[in-house]
Amino acid sequence: MAIKASENGRLFTLQTKDSSYQMFADDKNVLLHLYYGEKIGEENLSSLIFNTDMGFAGNPEEAGSDRTYSLDTLPQEVPSSGVGDYRDDMVRIRQVDGSCAADFRFDSYEILDHSYAVPGMPALYDTEEEKGETLVITMKEKASGVVLKLFYGVFENENVITRAARLENHGETAIELEKMLSFSMDLMYENYEMIYFSGRHAMERTAERIPVQHAKVEIGSIRGTSSHHYNPAVILCEEGADETHGSCIGACLVYSGNFVAAAQKDQKNQTRFQMGIHPANFCFHLKKGEAFDTPQAILSYSGSGLAKLSQQYHEIIREHICRGAYKHAERPILINNWEATYFDFNEEKILKIAEQAQKLGIEMLVLDDGWFGKRDDDNSGLGDWFVNEKKMNGSMAQLAEKIHKMGMKFGLWFEPEMISEDSDLYRAHPDWAFAVPGRVPNHGRNQLVLDMTRDDVREYLLERLTTIVHDAEIDYVKWDMNRSICDIYSHVAAQNRNGELYHRYVLGVYDLLERFLAACPDLLLEGCSGGGGRFDAGMMYYSPQIWCSDNTDAVNRLSIQYGSSFFYPISTVGSHVSVCPNHQTGRVTPFKTRGDVALAGSFGYEMDLNKISDEEKEMVKEQVAAMHTYYDLTHEGLYYRLTGLKKQDFMAWEFVAKDQSRALLTIVKTDAEGNMLPVHTKVCGLAENKLYRCSLDGEIRSGRTWNRAGLTLHQVLKEYESIRVEFTEAE
Ligand code: GLA
Repeated sequence: MAIKASENGRLFTLQTKDSSYQMFADDKNVLLHLYYGEKIGEENLSSLIFNTDMGFAGNPEEAGSDRTYSLDTLPQEVPSSGVGDYRDDMVRIRQVDGSCAADFRFDSYEILDHSYAVPGMPALYDTEEEKGETLVITMKEKASGVVLKLFYGVFENENVITRAARLENHGETAIELEKMLSFSMDLMYENYEMIYFSGRHAMERTAERIPVQHAKVEIGSIRGTSSHHYNPAVILCEEGADETHGSCIGACLVYSGNFVAAAQKDQKNQTRFQMGIHPANFCFHLKKGEAFDTPQAILSYSGSGLAKLSQQYHEIIREHICRGAYKHAERPILINNWEATYFDFNEEKILKIAEQAQKLGIEMLVLDDGWFGKRDDDNSGLGDWFVNEKKMNGSMAQLAEKIHKMGMKFGLWFEPEMISEDSDLYRAHPDWAFAVPGRVPNHGRNQLVLDMTRDDVREYLLERLTTIVHDAEIDYVKWDMNRSICDIYSHVAAQNRNGELYHRYVLGVYDLLERFLAACPDLLLEGCSGGGGRFDAGMMYYSPQIWCSDNTDAVNRLSIQYGSSFFYPISTVGSHVSVCPNHQTGRVTPFKTRGDVALAGSFGYEMDLNKISDEEKEMVKEQVAAMHTYYDLTHEGLYYRLTGLKKQDFMAWEFVAKDQSRALLTIVKTDAEGNMLPVHTKVCGLAENKLYRCSLDGEIRSGRTWNRAGLTLHQVLKEYESIRVEFTEAE
């Protein structure tokens, strides 16, 4: 059993392979956080807490005359609010009389031999090979009859502990739930730094690192999606931790909407670490008997640096979040027409792109935006999910048949959650779009957002999506979402509780995705939101790959894919070769480099291959072959970042097969100087006692030696040139 409760049922130790998490219900029933770190025994660690009278730190009634016992300074699992803990709360409840106080105390617990589900939301699921365990702790609010259930899930092998919470109103009156995070924990002694991933459209997930001090470090999104701007995944690591050293705690929210993640030191230098749905624009009205569930947060600990932490996340997301026919099946190499044609295409152009791609070994044609309704630019047509037969010279089934006859799969782009004002759908149902009565709504890409909280909207979309997919035997759907949400207001009266809409929107999207995939179980879904604006573990439950960024520049992709790799498996990263000069940056990079960078992901092309040289066509064939050769490495292997955040003149990364029989190491020269210095890179993860041959010069050394001595290139790479190096086990 990974979950241990002491005999008196008040001390809980969660054990994974290499980590432990401990908490304790004290004699006043306050649930104290005692430890999260390297694996330890099950001894009670409550003596790590030393209470003194801090002054201006009040005392609950049970403390009597003991002024050292204060909710304001104790390390807690569920910080109370309004009753004497002045740090950030986890749950905030407003009563009908306007008062705002909540004091949750330990009541009971239960241990389950399986993972818990989160109603209406994605969460880690059990497989035949591996089941999780669950600890459910029930906390009761002291005065109001509100009950809080804390869920702790344990996946031993991946060193993962999850947290989620459910609030049930068993009180006599309705309450307003103004804040409810997925977890809070107070880490007692370490000095931490936070690594987070910020950015913007076409420049997502730039890793940044900042010390956690008494000023709060907080990131989040209030855009309705997880966003390009901050990703819902952060790391707290000890000062100086790097890829191979130091303790690190990761937190990754399985959620695709508004979120917050924060860390702050308190007056005792303890770090309060929290994550969950953003409290801005959030307020749930809960009548007697109603409940609210938070999304799940996946926590993981590594005592030996960031590489191990990332590998743990890759494994848990790949095995227990990603689902469907393509969870492990080889994904088709695709060609997408977006950058090749934008909206300017017809059937002939698409078939020509497909024919040429097929000759070079590409396995699927994806028809992007512009095939439906009146859609020759991005000002109209969204919502009218009917094939523009004039533009396509026939039905979608006819085009699909032609593509299928070439021996290729066929994929289609949709943006289900959106509506253009210039569309038949909007003319028929203006109330289906979010807009506050009496206000002209803000436009994003000249489009409005559909009210996904409405059943009729979801029914319409489900019918349209499934009909087209079934009629044309579509193999793949790219599910896009191209604006942030505001002017949020639902015309369905029962749902018009404004503070609930952002969350209900996400629940609506999840509901539609779930039912769509149930109706089309063999489909490969690729998520997208202006590239990587919804690149999160929530979406990965539905789409095992997500278009990582609208930026296809190979050099920018190095940092975008680097940032994405801290939490998300490489198999989830949609990554394509495109033309040069690059459409986003104007940069020119070698065709080979573009391929090598795109190979670190779910691979494809975003160009018209009729327009490239014969030499480049040969390179496409080579890249396609490489994709097949290395698929098990890139999609199932262990991933190592060999270069870091500091500016250097090359970037390098490595995939090692799970059985350590071989490895693929890629280097891209990012900066060039006169009188070039040699490129020397680390090599990681080879089996210490095995011998490996290096593809560069046939040199054979033990894994132990390669892992320590690294590799020096005996060739000068020019700016943006790349090289792939393979290590294979030698007899
Ligand atoms: C978004 C996507 C692109 C493309 C366009 C189409 O920007 O990220 O890949 O599909 O929409 O409008």
